Amino acid sequence: MSVIFEVENLSLHYLTRFGNKIHAVNDVSFTMEQGEILGIAGESGCGKSTLVNGLMGLFIPPLHPTSGDVRVGGESLMNRSPKDIRQNVLSRKVSMIPQGAFNALNPVRKVKDIAADVMAAHMKGMDRKHIYERLKERFDLFGMETDKVLNSYPIQLTAGERQRSVIGISTLLNPQMVIADEPTSALDVTTQKVVIKLIFELLEKKIFSTMIFITHELPLLRHVADNIAIMYAGQIVEKGTAEQVVFDPRHPYTKALMGAMLSADAEQKTRKPTAIEGAPPNLAKPISGCRFAERCPSVKPECKNREQVIRIVGERQVRCEYAE
Ligand SMILES: Nc1ncnc2c1ncn2[C@@H]1O[C@H](COP(=O)(O)OP(=O)(O)OP(=O)(O)O)[C@@H](O)[C@H]1O
Ligand SMILES: [Mg+2]
Repeated sequence: MSVIFEVENLSLHYLTRFGNKIHAVNDVSFTMEQGEILGIAGESGCGKSTLVNGLMGLFIPPLHPTSGDVRVGGESLMNRSPKDIRQNVLSRKVSMIPQGAFNALNPVRKVKDIAADVMAAHMKGMDRKHIYERLKERFDLFGMETDKVLNSYPIQLTAGERQRSVIGISTLLNPQMVIADEPTSALDVTTQKVVIKLIFELLEKKIFSTMIFITHELPLLRHVADNIAIMYAGQIVEKGTAEQVVFDPRHPYTKALMGAMLSADAEQKTRKPTAIEGAPPNLAKPISGCRFAERCPSVKPECKNREQVIRIVGERQVRCEYAE
């Protein structure tokens, strides 16, 4: 297996109008192999969507890189203009299925025109007739009424058709890697299932093979992902195989999260949901010790002033020196 995507000590911040920095992503490192599906989970506000922008090299103020590097196929995405990134990286190398993708389609254009624009931007010289043929071929794979969908305005489509169209458009150019940022949130359970099924179909049809899948829903992730990374307050606190992270979590935050999230899962129904008390730290202020110390059930006096780094525990990575 070959590594196609590398993230090295990536830190990102938002610069507010008042000149304050919000350190939304801190010291994130991981690599992705061809064919790998990595799930990323964590509470709302822990920096998942911010990280996604960083992973695409897309820095639009107020978001700025603080330090670190992101490489696709060995090529760095840092210090490049949004225009360069849009033209040369997005859609082809890394493609995103955005959070709220549902509403991502321009309401005043037909689906075929939205899709054709994406293709035309990358396939200079290809005429519209050929573009529509390619589109039709691809949308036929999705089990939709292709002609109807392509000739509709987004509002004329069902939620499922809209989601399928967004996924279809995002993957038109067979990107090396897809990043799906909560593709199923805001959808009803039935539509969620349809979307997950579609993602699996695309993987099976080899339209793309490498994916980062971000979600609040761990029960879902453990069926989809090979590996899972758990984020807390801008950092990855644990990363391992889906099996390890879900069934044998080692970081106190992962343990708490599993208790809170998996309780609704059928196999875990007997467990009572346990909310994690307290709130994450304020990312606008410097944080000296472990970011989870304030809420950690196994906190030690030294945790509050000792910053934690990722260490290897068995076959996984954990950001807690007391994890066994
Ligand atoms: N434009 C912005 N300006 C300043 N701070 C921001 C901005 N966007 C996000 N943040 C802050 O950055 C942090 C991370 O936000 P982000 O949206 O990445 O979290 P998330 O994990 O994707 O949350 P959710 O699960 O709700 O989508 C939060 O503290 C948020 O308030
Ligand atoms: Mg988000």
